[in-house]
Amino acid sequence: MIDLHCHFLPGIDDGPENLQEALELAHAAVADGITHSVLTSHVYPGRFPNQGQNLQVAIADFKAQLLQAGIALKVSLGCEAHLSHELLDLIDTNEVPFLGEVDGYRILLLEFPPQIIPVGSIRFVNALLQQKIRPLIAHPERNKVVMIDTEKIRPFTEAGCWLQLTAGSLAGRFGIPAQQTAFKLIDAGWNCVAATDAHNMRYRPPLLSEGRDALRARYGDAVAKAMVHDKPVAILGGQHD
Ligand SMILES: [Fe+2]
Repeated sequence: MIDLHCHFLPGIDDGPENLQEALELAHAAVADGITHSVLTSHVYPGRFPNQGQNLQVAIADFKAQLLQAGIALKVSLGCEAHLSHELLDLIDTNEVPFLGEVDGYRILLLEFPPQIIPVGSIRFVNALLQQKIRPLIAHPERNKVVMIDTEKIRPFTEAGCWLQLTAGSLAGRFGIPAQQTAFKLIDAGWNCVAATDAHNMRYRPPLLSEGRDALRARYGDAVAKAMVHDKPVAILGGQHD
């Protein structure tokens, strides 16, 4: 399995606080059957002021630590970009790591605020698409507006956005409403992948298998595999061997 969304890099967002915790997360990912994790630290101007430069340094160091600890997890750099005006400037200066590229579109893991879909978001998304950047919207099943009415995401999927559902949501870890919302988004026929959004061992562990199993039970093996492996492989493109 391939995990397109997790917070493993230590000390730079609300993920692990130190290297030891970070290595525990990586170890747990391998134990869960994850072979490749895309490290998607928050890029959130004003809150988590990460950008390409410091993230590249952090992942280089983390790769060396994984090697030293004998943890056979392949990692690559992405980010979870918060929807903000500053994001466009950061993209212009090449400071936003993408997950990968599909059919000429760079894939950006894009985070909305948890309670709302801000006015103007569709314009923002269209501006990205015009630049050949395809948003993969992070965990829409946990957005309050979408939980009330999944149709609220339709303008975004019709514009060309893809959806990242959280494995824990599919497994019921975030409650029945989030789980039902996740299933509705799949049932609508929109392009969905599953990822862990792991932050820590206690509350947000790197477990993709529980999401895969929930998908298997409801939709069968092919859909489950597509969402935890085949589509992520396509998104990673040449970065995955
Ligand atoms: Fe995240």
